[in-house]
Amino acid sequence: MTPYTLLLSLHILLIATWLGMDIGLFTSSFWVRNPRLSPETRLAMGRFGSLMDMGPRTSLVLMLGVGILLSYYGGWALGWLPQPVVWLIVLLLLVWLWAIWQQFLAVRDATAGKPLGGRIVFLRQFRTFDLYLRLGLALVMIGLGMASFLNLLGETYGWLNTKFILFGVILLNGVAIRLVSDDFPIALGEIVRLGSTPEREARLNQALTRAYPLVLVLWGLIVVLLVLGVTKPF
Ligand code: HEM
Repeated sequence: MTPYTLLLSLHILLIATWLGMDIGLFTSSFWVRNPRLSPETRLAMGRFGSLMDMGPRTSLVLMLGVGILLSYYGGWALGWLPQPVVWLIVLLLLVWLWAIWQQFLAVRDATAGKPLGGRIVFLRQFRTFDLYLRLGLALVMIGLGMASFLNLLGETYGWLNTKFILFGVILLNGVAIRLVSDDFPIALGEIVRLGSTPEREARLNQALTRAYPLVLVLWGLIVVLLVLGVTKPF
């Protein structure tokens, strides 16, 4: 057993926490949408869903960090980066992950009516920052993959270049999911506090049904990245 094989094991474990918890989130949404259930049950399922959502959100960041380390120390890619820069990137990814959890905790406390103090920054500014960060990272990943295919970054592997590009697409897809389902927590909050109306139910349904196809695309992409990693076909 080496640190590399441990990292590889973590890389595989993260597929389970990503895909598995995303399926849990997806399934819980059908309970949230069911108007025959009491508002309390629907709210509880909504809370369960937001906890499940932290699985994919955490796994994405860790997958990127672990993937970068595997690429570097396995000699697969990124050999042109100085070692301290690789670790700086990993450190920044961990700070990003910390902030994502702060955002989750701030949203939880805000819905429970607890005072947020300085953590309000995670509800407002960080949300926008996080969105742009994902867009920027997506472009970097797609750019790195394309530059590698054009032989601009030394000798590379087609399967890994494709993984870089598709990971960028996963990031873009995640941004799209967030944008189309933006109204979901607001509509659910209104149903719980003010009662169910056809208009509120329609908004809740629309936010979720618009996200479903994108979620299925995400799962498909994860499976493609998995198969590319295992088979390394080109
Ligand atoms: C959804 C995202 C991803 C999934 C599902 C995934 C899945 C996998 C799987 C199943 C393997 C094969 C492990 C084995 O042969 O035992 C692998 C290998 C690998 N992945 Fe990923 N991966 C993802 C993202 C990434 C990213 C973003 C990078 C780079 C930044 C990356 C870099 C690598 C490398 C370098 C290997 C080869 C390790 C080796 O065989 O020594 N992966 N991946």
